[in-house]
Order: sequence, then C-alpha cells, then structure tokens
Amino acid sequence: MKITSAEYLISSPDFTKAPPPDKPEFAFIGRSNVGKSSLINMLADNQKLAKTSGTPGKTQLINHFIVNNEWYLVDLPGYGFAKVSQNARNRWEQMIENYLRKRENLINVFVLIDGRHSPQKIDLEFMNKLGKWEIPFTVVFTKADKETQKMVSQNVKAFFAEMRETWQFLPEYFVTSATKKTGKDKLLAFIDKTIRG
Ligand code: GTP
Ligand code: MG
Repeated sequence: MKITSAEYLISSPDFTKAPPPDKPEFAFIGRSNVGKSSLINMLADNQKLAKTSGTPGKTQLINHFIVNNEWYLVDLPGYGFAKVSQNARNRWEQMIENYLRKRENLINVFVLIDGRHSPQKIDLEFMNKLGKWEIPFTVVFTKADKETQKMVSQNVKAFFAEMRETWQFLPEYFVTSATKKTGKDKLLAFIDKTIRG
C-alpha cells in the first residue's frame, strides 16, 4: 500500500469523542520518546503530520488521522515517563485502557519498543495487559539507525525470549528507522493485508 493522503482529524481526551468507528483503525503506542509520532510521519511521508519532540511526553491525547480516506491511524501518548505525577499516570492509564478496550473498530495496536535496549519490564507488562484484554498487537522495534544491526537483532531475540516465558504464540514484528525509512514498506503491507483480511 502507498499512502496517498493522510490528514489530522481530532485530538480527544477520551475515546467517545473520537470519530465514528466506521473505518478500520490502527493505533501506535509505546514508551514516551520511543518514536511513535516520528514513525507515523515516516509512514505518511509528512514530517509535519504528527507532532514530535526530543522531550518525552509530547503527545498527550488520542490523536486521530485519516489515511487514504480508508482507515484511521491513531497516535497515542507514551507510557513510562518518569516525570509524571501519579495522578496524571492514573488518568493516562484510564484513558488508554478505555480506548483500547472499547474502541470497536480498532483492529491492531503497534507496540513500539526502542531497538537499542535490552527487554524492559514496562513493555513486557504492557503486552501482558493487551493479552489479558485480548487486543491484537504487533511489535515494532524503533530507532534501528542508532544501533548496529547486530545489536538490534540481539535485542529482538532477547525480547522474544522473555515473551516466550509467558506467551504461547509470539506476535509479528518489524524493525524500523524513521530517519532511514527502514521498515516502511513492510509495515504498510501488513496494514494493507490486515484491512483486506
Ligand atoms: P511522546 O509523544 O512524547 O510519547 O514521544 P514519541 O514516542 O511520539 O516520540 P517522537 O516521535 O516524538 O520522537 C522522540 C525523539 O526520538 C525525537 O527527537 C525524534 O527525532 C527521535 N526519533 C524518533 N524515531 C527515530 C528514529 O527512527 N531514528 C532516530 N535517529 N531518531 C528518532
Ligand atoms: Mg508522540
């Protein structure tokens, strides 16, 4: 699939304010600063589509975009940002849990993992929650340009070794770089395949 049009629609504090659930929807989530918004811009070939920042905690609401007039793409705020109060964290968790569990047209969540690091507990715990809620997800290892290929594949391997401890089946995964556009075609092909079921 090629993205021919991608437009920002709305930022919502809760899923009931989101556009009507009349098109297949794909959401991007992961730790603060992992590169969610940058990946979205890379896929859409538009650096100005989603707001990115060197400072974690940039994306705060549920941001809907419409792509090719056919599917919704959602940029979500990141988790695990240390400088956030317990109160704000609880609010985030409630907002995300509601969205993920109740959004009826959500067909896949991309969970972004920083490809430079060894497996992090916070990411594994988040996936366990998705499993408990029975939400289909795919893993995306980001910032591949910042590490050697060898290190990235080691991290991928270690991550799935950890997942295998609790998961019977492992999810599909992609390795990406927003700066080098690595993984773009494969990720878009996956979305295309998933939409057409
Ligand atoms: P929050 O909205 O705060 O949760 O962050 P985010 O996950 O949306 O991250 P964002 O896309 O804003 O990127 C965070 C920082 O990482 C920015 O400085 C980006 O330029 C940088 N970055 C993101 N992806 C890549 C990548 O693939 N390669 C490199 N080198 N830098 C990246
Ligand atoms: Mg963001």
